[in-house]
Amino acid sequence: MKLVGLVGWRGMVGSVLMQRMQEEGDFAHIEPVFFTTSNTGGAAPSMAKNETTLKDANNIDELKRCEIIISCQGGDYTSAVFPQLRAAGWNGYWIDAASTLRMEKDAVIVLDPVNLNVIKDAMAKGVKNFVGGNCTVSCMLMGLGGLFKHNLVDWMTSMTYQAASGGGAQHMRELLTQFGTINSSVKALLDNPAAAILEIDRQVLATQHGLSADETKQFGVPLAGNLIPWIDKDLGNGQSKEEWKGGAETNKILGLGPDFGSKAIPVDGLCVRIGAMRCHSQALTIKLNKDVPLDEINDIIASDNQWVKFVPNTREASVKDLTPAAVTGSLTIPVGRVRKLSMGGEYISAFTVGDQLLWGAAEPLRRMLRIVLD
Ligand code: HSE
Repeated sequence: MKLVGLVGWRGMVGSVLMQRMQEEGDFAHIEPVFFTTSNTGGAAPSMAKNETTLKDANNIDELKRCEIIISCQGGDYTSAVFPQLRAAGWNGYWIDAASTLRMEKDAVIVLDPVNLNVIKDAMAKGVKNFVGGNCTVSCMLMGLGGLFKHNLVDWMTSMTYQAASGGGAQHMRELLTQFGTINSSVKALLDNPAAAILEIDRQVLATQHGLSADETKQFGVPLAGNLIPWIDKDLGNGQSKEEWKGGAETNKILGLGPDFGSKAIPVDGLCVRIGAMRCHSQALTIKLNKDVPLDEINDIIASDNQWVKFVPNTREASVKDLTPAAVTGSLTIPVGRVRKLSMGGEYISAFTVGDQLLWGAAEPLRRMLRIVLD
């Protein structure tokens, strides 16, 4: 059985990965080696077989023993350790959740229900670096991949509603703390049916403005009862890095663009953080390259993969099935609000939701492991 090194398995994405690997019986096919940055020599978790102690995640010799390494440890770890490992002659498969290597020429962004052909081509050419995509991009392509595969997309804009978890575990805690502080500040008024709503509203605003530095440490500003229309770095050209990833990664996943000898499909939009916990949602405007009847479009979207759930464009179905609360914790990717826009027959809207810790992070990694093992 192949030795598979697991790094960052205790963090939020790593924990979701471990849970999914257990659910899918992945540990039956590997000899796991659990790495740590803080507890070398400690006991490995119950999934361990022969490698019962935790190994030092910065020990290149220990890492080199593994034929496959999966890292959820984050970009700083990848930047520090990956080059050393390769320089030491390690030729194993590196499967990574961090963005560090994503756009490298010798790395493939993995989302096999969408780009198994790109993954297989790269493996045949000896590529050994496989990286999970940006969560928003992966969730969007899991939902709308059918339209791209049918070569129907001329361009697309994505307006996102991204959950706190995209920032990390501490961001989720901060959101909930803020909700709690705000609620406490108006609790007495809420309990009094005669209290004026504008008085409650004034108090909520005062509390938001008065949140302590501790309560806004992660986001910098209130997120509860608010939104933040910027995610990730400022690229200095008016675009956020998250928005840049939308176009760059979508095309790389699909194997499109100059690097693949073809034209890239323009994908751009605005990325916004909202007070959801772990599901990213996005409103899409898609310009098709021909006027396709709506029922055909619906069929193409619905039949693309087993996780897409086509939601009829009705009020009842949309409010029930097309929300973060409906999707959290599941691999289902609902796509709804699909209709022709008033701009013309080639313009459609769509709305999709995805659990950013599952399809947006952990799931493509464990599926890539299975592809390597097959
Ligand atoms: N950059 C994403 C976010 C995280 O902040 O929501 C997932 O790639």
